[in-house]
Amino acid sequence: MLFKQQPLLRQKLFVLGSLAIGSLLYLVARVGSLDRLQPLCPIDGRFGPRGQDEIPLRALQFKRGLLHEFRKGNATKEQIRLHNLVQQLPKAIIIGVRKGGTRALLEMLNLHPAVVKASQEIHFFDNDENYAKGIEWYRKKMPFSYPHQITIEKSPAYFITEEVPERIYKMNSSIKLLIIVREPTTRAISDYTQVLEGKERKNKTYYKFEKLAIDPNTCEVNTKYKAVRTSIYTKHLERWLKYFPIEQFHIVDGDRLITEPLPELQLVEKFLNLPPRISQYNLYFNATRGFYCLRFNIVFNKCLAGSKGRIHPEVDTSVITKLRKFFHPFNQKFYQITGRTFNWP
Ligand code: A3P
Repeated sequence: MLFKQQPLLRQKLFVLGSLAIGSLLYLVARVGSLDRLQPLCPIDGRFGPRGQDEIPLRALQFKRGLLHEFRKGNATKEQIRLHNLVQQLPKAIIIGVRKGGTRALLEMLNLHPAVVKASQEIHFFDNDENYAKGIEWYRKKMPFSYPHQITIEKSPAYFITEEVPERIYKMNSSIKLLIIVREPTTRAISDYTQVLEGKERKNKTYYKFEKLAIDPNTCEVNTKYKAVRTSIYTKHLERWLKYFPIEQFHIVDGDRLITEPLPELQLVEKFLNLPPRISQYNLYFNATRGFYCLRFNIVFNKCLAGSKGRIHPEVDTSVITKLRKFFHPFNQKFYQITGRTFNWP
């Protein structure tokens, strides 16, 4: 009899087990979403030396889930008022460099509970039409945040656009500026790859990288080619230094952000006077993508879009050597100015 009932018993146990696991998962998700609405932990107080330019962090205990709802436009004016949400000008800007890993840096910093990212590139300071709309237009483009969180935006075109340093200076002369760089030749090829993909999408043909990067008349590096010019980091940085002291910049190693993101993020937290909150838990390596992805909590994680991490075309080794030789003196100067040395060839 007992023998006959065993499959039924097993079936019942299976159903009960599934229900228990389901309820547990629901509770975990529910607690996660409640976290976002309520203070997570007691106020952490101050971290690091208290300086004039220190970013206040009293709202660290809040999580971002609620903000997400507001950003989706689901909030009423009453809710915004009730939660004391504001649209703040950025306290830090990722000014470049294009293809340096600007998106990865922004998304990873956004893991920090005191950071709120502007999802889109705003292009306020580099686009004359946008700039003419005024600073209030810019502020209104910012996401809602709690007053003591900091807003960060990224627009990589800022780094190379002539007028931008002066314009940012006029908005906030003590703003913190983040520049993420990669080995210049690799960055130039990545830049080319992005443009190439755009052309292919429109069924257009395009030149080979070698043809663009090397001047066929002189056989020298073509400094008129934008992808080459952008990689001369020191030239651009020198323009910025007319307005901002070097202490207001932090250089992120974009190559290391790919292979070992946490230490790079910890350096940024320090630079921004944020308490260390991003941990290894927040970053996991996804073998399929070949990159680190982001884990916000037990239920929510994400990888960057497929447009990040493209396969680069193969480039003639003599061209690579020529480019590396060309960038070498500029790199040395860049190390000297920034005080950060990279193992670039
Ligand atoms: P590639 O496409 O050349 O590999 P940007 O966001 O400034 O356009 O930079 C894009 C680059 O970010 C990518 O260049 C990729 O290598 C790099 N990157 C760094 N960390 C990444 C991550 N976790 N996921 C995807 N791409 C990442």
